[in-house]
Amino acid sequence: MTDFWQNCWENKRTPWDLGGSHPLLPRLWELMEQYSPHKKFLRALVPGAGKGHDGHWLSQVIPYVVVSDLIPEAVSTAKKLYGQNPGLDFLVHNALLPYPENLEASDVIYDRAMLCALPAKLRKEYVQACYNQLTNKGVFMGIVFAAVTNEEGPPFAVSSSELLALFPEPIWQPLFMQECHDGATNEVITVENLIAFIKV
Ligand SMILES: C[S@@+](CC[C@H](N)C(=O)[O-])C[C@H]1O[C@@H](n2cnc3c(N)ncnc32)[C@H](O)[C@@H]1O
Repeated sequence: MTDFWQNCWENKRTPWDLGGSHPLLPRLWELMEQYSPHKKFLRALVPGAGKGHDGHWLSQVIPYVVVSDLIPEAVSTAKKLYGQNPGLDFLVHNALLPYPENLEASDVIYDRAMLCALPAKLRKEYVQACYNQLTNKGVFMGIVFAAVTNEEGPPFAVSSSELLALFPEPIWQPLFMQECHDGATNEVITVENLIAFIKV
């Protein structure tokens, strides 16, 4: 899969990119404020962040945000766009692997099109790496594709029942899952799901 993403970035083929932050991100954050028992989030991590637009948006509500991607071209593009933002840091990292020891744990991990970029067999590994990088009571939140038109992917759809299996109780607890039929941001994606799970 690395070659696939490397090729996308080298050839500037980034059809998922919205050119700005995701339009559903403010609604996701409102749900967090409504449902999360913890109101103070100091550190966030965005794996598979692409050009970093959503990390930039999150830095308005969370003081320190790390924008991370597997592909160096992605991270350098994000840095070019948002390197002046003092609330952002940038990291080249494979989100399936443990994070560097000097990276402090995050209160929030935000995912848009990272989980859905992975084939089913790699998703458990990704969620485990996220779990390990979250503080106690930290939250994994995201915008997950509930339905897509191209079944071979990526992107892949991840259903609510798959999500509950990937984030099992008692080590995770669901905070919310809200399907949005109005916010589809790409012709391939027909339904999006705003989700959050808390690390217990
Ligand atoms: C579909 S794009 C989404 C980018 C961004 N989240 C957005 O919404 O615009 C998926 C991103 O994940 C990155 N990626 C793929 N596999 C990865 C991995 N194992 N670890 C970290 N990033 C990865 C790709 O380089 C790509 O930038």
